[in-house]
Amino acid sequence: MASSDKDSTALVGIVMGSKSDWEFMTAAAEALTELKVPHEVRVLSAHRTPDLTLEYAAGAAERGLKVLIGGAGGAAALPGVLAAKTILPVIGVPMPGWAMGGIDALLSIAQMPKGVPVATMAIGKPGAGNAGLLAAQIIALSDRELARRISDWREARAQEVLRQKLP
Ligand code: RP5
Repeated sequence: MASSDKDSTALVGIVMGSKSDWEFMTAAAEALTELKVPHEVRVLSAHRTPDLTLEYAAGAAERGLKVLIGGAGGAAALPGVLAAKTILPVIGVPMPGWAMGGIDALLSIAQMPKGVPVATMAIGKPGAGNAGLLAAQIIALSDRELARRISDWREARAQEVLRQKLP
């Protein structure tokens, strides 16, 4: 992790419903670390720690956070609950669940009622990685250096594809 949960310089808050989500959500932190975006990581559950979750979301903007990423599985209420208490952009990442492979969480996170949006990513690690990148892109709107790092990152991915050789 690039920064601890006590880092007051964090611009992105990565929140997940359980430690069991970290296996996938680490991809969000890795993307932000690679792009040098300060972030913090918390385990907070919409169902198991509802008051702390609401408190975190309500205080996020005042603490200097610019974007929140919420990862959750199953009923996956976390991203929506975060979005209900802040006007910061919230990116939701469905976790592969124990019963439906994450389809349940995907539908739950995507089906936010009109007026409280959550930008919903793909299930699992690819979605978590994209959540990190999207958070960086949002912050890059007012950070030219970060925008350049993201463009360089994209170019490096393109070069990787061009170097690929079939057997
Ligand atoms: C959700 O329930 C969490 O986000 C996690 O994906 C899922 C299972 O949590 P654990 O039972 O592994 O703690 O709230």
